[in-house]
Amino acid sequence: MDKFLITGGQPLSGRVVVSGAKNSALPCMAAAVLTPETVTLHNVPYVRDCLTQRRLLEDLGATVLVPDLRTHKITASNIELFEAPYELVKTMRASVLALGPLLARFGKAKVSLPGGCAIGTRPIDMHLEALQMLGAEVRLESGDVVARAPKGGRLAGGDVHFPKVTVTGTENLLMAATLARGTTHLHNAACEPEIVDLADLLNRMGARVRGAGTETITVEGVEALGGAEHTIIPDRIETGTFLVAAAITNGELEIKDCRPEHLGSVIAKLRDAGVEIEEVNPTTLVARRSASGLKASDVTTEPYPNFPTDMQAQYMALMTQAEGRTRVTETIFENRFMHASEMQRMGARVRVESHNTATVEGPSELMGARVQASDLRASASLVLAGLAARGETWIERVYHIDRGYEKIEGKLRAVGAEIERVRESVTAQLPPVETVGT
Ligand code: UD1
Repeated sequence: MDKFLITGGQPLSGRVVVSGAKNSALPCMAAAVLTPETVTLHNVPYVRDCLTQRRLLEDLGATVLVPDLRTHKITASNIELFEAPYELVKTMRASVLALGPLLARFGKAKVSLPGGCAIGTRPIDMHLEALQMLGAEVRLESGDVVARAPKGGRLAGGDVHFPKVTVTGTENLLMAATLARGTTHLHNAACEPEIVDLADLLNRMGARVRGAGTETITVEGVEALGGAEHTIIPDRIETGTFLVAAAITNGELEIKDCRPEHLGSVIAKLRDAGVEIEEVNPTTLVARRSASGLKASDVTTEPYPNFPTDMQAQYMALMTQAEGRTRVTETIFENRFMHASEMQRMGARVRVESHNTATVEGPSELMGARVQASDLRASASLVLAGLAARGETWIERVYHIDRGYEKIEGKLRAVGAEIERVRESVTAQLPPVETVGT
């Protein structure tokens, strides 16, 4: 398994370019299953989760041409398998996004139950109950969810009320409803920019989706969908991670190809904590620590447009360098403080108070240590802590970060970080950055 070796203490300076959003690319790739025609996606990030999603599509029988690594031409004209198998679902929970499109177009789908994962139990009960509201019959068979459309093979439009906001649940239902007979209303839908991106793609494919980005989405079902071309939005979590990287190292970064309007709550919180952020133009931000320094500012994670859970760990790393006591409240996932104990090993004064609250006393001088990445965003927070620490930090299990950050070590090295990947296996490598293209 690869490790990162970081020698901390270098202020980062220069320009970084943001990649496409993984959490948008995954549902958009799944949406290609809704049509036999070709769906072309640009700006797909070169990250392991997207490779896994591509493998799933190919296993189903779709053809995926990748002319320049970030463009995917997906043609699902020859689907032969209607199943997301355990081997894929266990490595990437977002494989459950195959359920809605398969069921909508073919009237049948089988998806292995995701089971537990590092950040809590993460069930898919809301996806399943909502599909039942569109007439699907859902059974559990030896750990798999087997779903069928009603007689005639087509789902029926209906009123879905999500008891709690679910991002992939909203996406699954959105895709399922596009080919249903009649109109579907999704209430308490997720409002994340990735939902809007998916809806844009679906509408380009001929779907009739209104209200994406609000709590109520209306989908008028159509008979069939066609091909389309679409560019994935920039990754707002990668953008936020770079904002923190500039501030935590006391450097200055120009962050290109981002969408500041998707980061309203993150930018507001960081500014409150003493990060200077300039919006140079609609796709460029410049970030640096303010002259008065960083100061503690409490944060609570909530669904969009509030502060994202996917930025919680990175923010906690930043607060180790801030003056005062920060309270971090996590309301989306249980057990999402695994980075806290690793940061403690580096000298951070972080205390997990309960399953959803932690406090950080700052500032503390971080010292390099051997730490372990436990999930994708936790890994990013340890990279940030390592950049700010004195001495060498070894981060183990960086395969977590490869799931969702495109060549993070290359991007950070280009702006002055001393970070290298120590390769331990030749089988599980991403190609070197030179061969990845631009
Ligand atoms: C998505 C994102 C992930 C992000 C999360 C919250 C993708 C691929 N992943 O994950 O990066 O951290 O949104 O913004 O887009 N829940 C249930 N039953 C369900 C579904 C969810 O109880 O059927 C719970 C979850 O356990 C969690 C909460 O609802 O506590 C929100 O989860 P959800 O929004 O569904 O997260 P994901 O879509 O898996």
